[in-house]
Amino acid sequence: MLQFPKDFLWGTATSSYQIEGANKTDGKGPSIWDAFCQIPGKISNNENGDTACDHYHKVVEDVQMMKALNIKAYRFSISWPRILPDGKVTKINEKGIDFYNHLIDTLLKNEITPWVTLYHWDLPLALQLEYDGWTGEKISDLFADYADLCFSRFGDRVKNWITINEPWVVAILGYGQGVFAPGRISNIEPYVAGHQLLLAHAKAVQVFRTKYQPTQGGQIGITNNCDWREPASDSDADKKAATRALEFFLGWFADPIYKGDYPKCMKERLGERLPAFTPEEKTMLLHSSDFFGLNHYTTMYAAEASGNLGKTNTYGNGGMSEDQDVILSSDPKWEYTSMRWAVVPWGCRKLLQWIANRYDNPPIYITENGCSYNDNLENGICADEKRTAFFKGYLTECNAAIQQGVNLKGYFIWSLMDNFEWASGYSKRFGIHYVDFETLERTPKDSARWYAELIANQ
Ligand code: GAL
Repeated sequence: MLQFPKDFLWGTATSSYQIEGANKTDGKGPSIWDAFCQIPGKISNNENGDTACDHYHKVVEDVQMMKALNIKAYRFSISWPRILPDGKVTKINEKGIDFYNHLIDTLLKNEITPWVTLYHWDLPLALQLEYDGWTGEKISDLFADYADLCFSRFGDRVKNWITINEPWVVAILGYGQGVFAPGRISNIEPYVAGHQLLLAHAKAVQVFRTKYQPTQGGQIGITNNCDWREPASDSDADKKAATRALEFFLGWFADPIYKGDYPKCMKERLGERLPAFTPEEKTMLLHSSDFFGLNHYTTMYAAEASGNLGKTNTYGNGGMSEDQDVILSSDPKWEYTSMRWAVVPWGCRKLLQWIANRYDNPPIYITENGCSYNDNLENGICADEKRTAFFKGYLTECNAAIQQGVNLKGYFIWSLMDNFEWASGYSKRFGIHYVDFETLERTPKDSARWYAELIANQ
């Protein structure tokens, strides 16, 4: 059995749009995902999050499920339009606030620490329409106002805050490739949106640090996602390509926070398409995270493309790969999940080491790691041995990273339960609890029992 440091934080994660449902209930306003799901063909089977896991009505039951897992922390997100139907603090939906109070209080009563994400992609639709979403200049101030409201209403009990989940996904999939809300396709807008997301993060942190942290304590950070990029060969060119790919992926959002500006290679390659920070903004961004939130799922090989990207490239058309000029590939001998993401545990260790080296060994929390498989429930049993093997593999490498000095302090499984997996709808199951989407019944998969035992044996 794996042994971790005594104070290691064990958790699971979810997000509002993926589990809450109750989308038009109790005064919630629409989000860009509600609108995006209405467009035929955008979501597998044209599904949507209207009901999802109906977590909105199942808080008590779901917290009991967490309790049985022995987890110490639960990461969830607040739906901005549930508490601010048109995105602005001029109109507060108290019923939405009540819902999160109920969730937070139930968690605390059960000795589970809430980790709260302020933005997990469900932007109020009104702000998309009025300000052009994350490409507008006003959005970072509106986000800071919303964050301020959350700190003031929940900060007496919530001590762990994550401003934004995966700005890379918002920028590239939402504004580059158009496969996530708001569905835009451009090779300019991802960099504009990324810039505003960083400013929004920094402004929210400034509010927290000036108005709340001095009296309430607590910590705040951002969660970035990154795959590992392994050089495809020993050549210098491929090694440089792999580093460049990591800089375009993670450095884009972590460098401004840990080094005060975008990576040099991005500035050189993007020219005017990459907005510049003012000196004041750089100061505001620098050291604006108390911890390094990391979502990690997979690994690919990276090779120098020298302008010959061709069709081999996974992230084609939409700004990213052409700009970094890297050819990505996988090893057919690797295991693959039902998302067709490769299972490469050692990539997780290498990424953790890369972060520790580049950013001066910050405290890291893996705020998501997990896998989807085509699970079946038979006679009340879901024998998901591949998922358990996945966690064993990744946690073994996390453990090795800690032994080597990486300051990894916690790990959240994605996800507590099967849920609405964005453009894939309900077809991809990431949960350690099986959800029957007809009856909404939850059943622990074998991996959930394994996780509960692992935590109990620490
Ligand atoms: C992350 C995201 C989660 C979940 C997961 C699995 O990018 O934050 O919401 O969908 O991927 O795809």
